Amino acid sequence: MCLSNKKLVVVSNRLPVAIYQEGDQWHIKPSTGGLVTALAPTITRTKGMWLGWPGCSPDAPAAKLLTEYNKNRDYRLIPILITREEIEKFYFGFSNNTIWPLFHDLLGHFSFSLDEWHSYLEVNRRFAELIADVIRPDSFIWIHDYHLLLVGHLLREMGVRHYLNFFLHIPFPGYDLYRRLPWKHEILKAILDYDHIGFQTPSDRRNFIQCIKWLIPEAVRTMNKRQSIIYYNHHRTKLGYYPISIDFNEFNEGGKAREVADAAWFLHENLNSRILVLGLDRLDYTKGIPNRFLAFERLLEKYPDTIGNISLIQIVVPSRTKVPDYMKLKTDLDTLTGRINSRFSQHGWVPIHYQFRELDRTQLLGHYRACEIALITPLRDGMNLVAKEYCASSIDNNGVLILSEFAGAAAQLSRGALMVNPYDLESTADAIYRAFTMTLEERRRRMKILRSEVKRNDVARWVNWFLSSEFNSLPSDGYFPETIDRQTS
Ligand code: G6P
Repeated sequence: MCLSNKKLVVVSNRLPVAIYQEGDQWHIKPSTGGLVTALAPTITRTKGMWLGWPGCSPDAPAAKLLTEYNKNRDYRLIPILITREEIEKFYFGFSNNTIWPLFHDLLGHFSFSLDEWHSYLEVNRRFAELIADVIRPDSFIWIHDYHLLLVGHLLREMGVRHYLNFFLHIPFPGYDLYRRLPWKHEILKAILDYDHIGFQTPSDRRNFIQCIKWLIPEAVRTMNKRQSIIYYNHHRTKLGYYPISIDFNEFNEGGKAREVADAAWFLHENLNSRILVLGLDRLDYTKGIPNRFLAFERLLEKYPDTIGNISLIQIVVPSRTKVPDYMKLKTDLDTLTGRINSRFSQHGWVPIHYQFRELDRTQLLGHYRACEIALITPLRDGMNLVAKEYCASSIDNNGVLILSEFAGAAAQLSRGALMVNPYDLESTADAIYRAFTMTLEERRRRMKILRSEVKRNDVARWVNWFLSSEFNSLPSDGYFPETIDRQTS
């Protein structure tokens, strides 16, 4: 990886730690998200730093806890403190009520307010100020995700001249959706102040370029297979797509551990003589959980031989529970589970085992190993790492992955998975039945394809792709944008 002598500075809304209170004691522990797994080796090696919100209430002694925490690390975590009001307006408001639903094509959940936009601008400005304060000439800045779309632009306003990298973890919407945003021009122009932008899939990048085409027609666009360049306002921005992934070996090896085998055995023993279907998601309306329950219900209606012989284990990890749409989703799931279970349950068998909680590592891997089918049916998803984790943990090569065509992961996994449209309950039910009746030979053939794809394109490759492309293929300085064909795909 070509980071030369630079030090990686990662900026994301959340720091990779959890700060929590037990009694009157505050504690801090590392969190285990995909991003920290991806970036920890590089940030450690380069003795870099990570800036972000510690995710706790403003009353927590975050700065003190982080100072202690940093003593035992090779890289520093630097907190950005956000007031209670900003948590409401910037985080729950503009980030999660405006950008999140719009970028996931779910207009029904989309709302906005001027006040929340101002708060978004203000918090982005504070991120930029802190970055400008802590960086040095050898800093390599990499900013992440939809909470921080304006930070690059604000850094430029402050006179920062570093090369600015940005990665969008969620989808980028098509023009007809994006144009609903009152601040569509401001945001798009601000994003173009980044030097290098990574998207998850080619279609996210294509959507972004289409928005530029309609909203900033004076920008010049060039396309090639992996990278495109936009010239605007005497600045060029390189656009690539880099599907994020997981540490294949960690899941593959973890899946072999004795305690994981025990957890898997225990799960199956409790729910014996039936095929287990796993759903595992953060509480989020983008994940399509109600549709999944309805498709499962349709399976039971349409294929009576599944009754008593298949169960859906749905784990929902609590998330953003203060956003009204998330609270409503929780209530809807409770109601739907109750209705379906009371309709179909028999002595010793219930169709849906729904749990609203987090799983620890062993339980997570135990679930991946125990469940013969993974049913991953988001209405829209930037990538969906659960799909990749399930494949990497399927060390017996016999799990079946059913995957939504609207997950970013579909671009890579469609050859081995059974692909479904999550809005189409009938064909999702058919796909579950197909997985239920699939021969061992076909399951193995498909899972081998999936595992080799996830293994080849694992998270180390994602980091390498992103970081090395920054240095490799920019056009030389003698390049004249006027001569470029303005067409784009
Ligand atoms: C998605 C986003 C992340 C975010 C995560 C959890 O994966 O892309 O940026 O951190 O959801 O959401 P939360 O609101 O709890 O940070």
